[in-house]
Amino acid sequence: MIEFHLDAFTLGECREQIHKTPVTTVAVLDDFWNDFEAVQEQVEKLPFCKTAFHTEDMEDYRFGFVKTIAGHDMPFRNELVNKISTLFSDDDILKQSMKIDLAFNINSVGSDRIKSDFYNPHLDAGFYTVVVFMNNEYDDSDGFNIYRPSRLRGLWRSRDQVRVDTFVRGKPNRAVVFPAPGVLHGLEIRSDNFREEYRCTSALFLNHNV
Ligand SMILES: [Fe+2]
Repeated sequence: MIEFHLDAFTLGECREQIHKTPVTTVAVLDDFWNDFEAVQEQVEKLPFCKTAFHTEDMEDYRFGFVKTIAGHDMPFRNELVNKISTLFSDDDILKQSMKIDLAFNINSVGSDRIKSDFYNPHLDAGFYTVVVFMNNEYDDSDGFNIYRPSRLRGLWRSRDQVRVDTFVRGKPNRAVVFPAPGVLHGLEIRSDNFREEYRCTSALFLNHNV
C-alpha cells in the first residue's frame, strides 16, 4: 500500500519572471513548491509506468493523477488558478470551473540521438501547462524548450529542422508556465547528466472541469 500525501503539495513563494517570446508568453516561477523536499519524497513513492514512447534511445515513464479520482482534487488548485490568471491577465479562467490534473514524467537518455534530434516536441490539451523541474541539479544546457511551429512530425525531430523559440534552463523547484493551445514544447537534455540519473518533472494541466 502506497501512502501518498497530496497535502505535501502546496505552493511556495513563486518568484516570477515573464518572457514574451515570438510564439507565446512564458512565466518562469522559482521556488514553486513550498516544501520541495517533501514533494520529492512523495514522488519517490509513485509507481511509474512506461509510456507508449518508451524506447532504448529515451526511457520514458509517467504517473498521473486526475480529478476524476474522488478526493484527489489538488489542494493548491484555487491558488494556482488565481496565480495563472494574474500572470497572464486571464479573467476567463476565474469565471469557469477549472481542474488541475497532476502528472509526473521520468526520462533517462539511452543513446546519442538526443545530440542530433529533439525528443518529442508535442502539444498539450487544455488551457495552461505548468512544468516543474524536480531534480536537485541541472547543467546549464538542460531544461525545457518551446519550439517555433513546425510541420514535421515524429517522436524525434532533427535539431537542424526545428527552431527553438525559448529555452528555459532547468533549476530545482522552478516551474515553466505557458498557455497550452498551439504551443509546441518538450524536454531539453544536452548534457550527459541524465544517462544514469532520471530526469523528473511534475506537469500540471489546467483544464475545464467536466
Ligand atoms: Fe507537454
